Amino acid sequence: MQVKKAVIPAAGLGTRFLPATKAIPKELLPVVNKPVIQYVVEEAVAAGIVEAIFVVSSGKSAILDHFDYLFEIEETLRQRGKKDLLREMETLHELASIISVRQKKPLGLGHAILTAKDVVGDQPFAVLLGDDLIDSKVPCIRQMIDVYEKTGAAVVGVMEVPPSDVPLYGIVKGVQEGPRLLRVDAMVEKPSVAEAPSNLAIVGRYVLPPSIFEAIEKTKPGKGGEIQITDALAQLARDKGVVAYQFEGDRYDVGDRVGFLLANAVFGLRDPQLRDRFRSALKALLEKSQEG
Ligand code: G1P
Repeated sequence: MQVKKAVIPAAGLGTRFLPATKAIPKELLPVVNKPVIQYVVEEAVAAGIVEAIFVVSSGKSAILDHFDYLFEIEETLRQRGKKDLLREMETLHELASIISVRQKKPLGLGHAILTAKDVVGDQPFAVLLGDDLIDSKVPCIRQMIDVYEKTGAAVVGVMEVPPSDVPLYGIVKGVQEGPRLLRVDAMVEKPSVAEAPSNLAIVGRYVLPPSIFEAIEKTKPGKGGEIQITDALAQLARDKGVVAYQFEGDRYDVGDRVGFLLANAVFGLRDPQLRDRFRSALKALLEKSQEG
């Protein structure tokens, strides 16, 4: 069965970015002139996803507004003859059909995904976390859907991280099964450096079979007292099998301040309208900071 739906958890508080995220959802922080979440939805749509299911909490409705049709803005652009911008606005609400479900309590990522159970139904689906911006030729989630279609097993997107960073991630260990592909035999959510079975970290991309919902329902609170998707997947790995795929592309953790600044630099340097001015301004800035 084809993967047509994506769950996009967006209920988190964004404490790492306070005070910027006091009144604005972290998912709407801009990378150049687009909110982070738009890159994520665009990745999903480019991968063939037609329905985006946002898991939100109170105070997050601005995310849904962003993908909605806003008559006033579009009418004003039309009257002013701003055709390019108008087309960009229209593309935005034509991207995918948007559905939202509510996570009423912050009980963890596994719980957030479970909230979308009825809307997903009995079919495989993708999960994309808004904190992870992945820059790649073939959309990361498309690479992973291809793996799902070949193996039929749940797929987690992974990359190597420096050993000191393993306590920030779900970590997997497995047996090599093909190029960039491992059959997972251990998964631990945010282990200490000493406990970590490897330095292969799960980034925010998953392709999951509907049987994950049953596994989440059976999962007890884990790290931080939350229902962790990593623990539900560890169960699935024992029962049905899970594979880890080392995707091709560069990942920016935009929930981290340095990652956010880097993503802005990379995408800014690529923007045809900005790159020349931005490059010379950056060069001058670096020279000046070296002098000082
Ligand atoms: C979540 C997952 C973790 C994963 C990470 C990727 O953690 O629980 O397994 O490695 O996303 O970004 P969070 O960063 O939401 O705490």
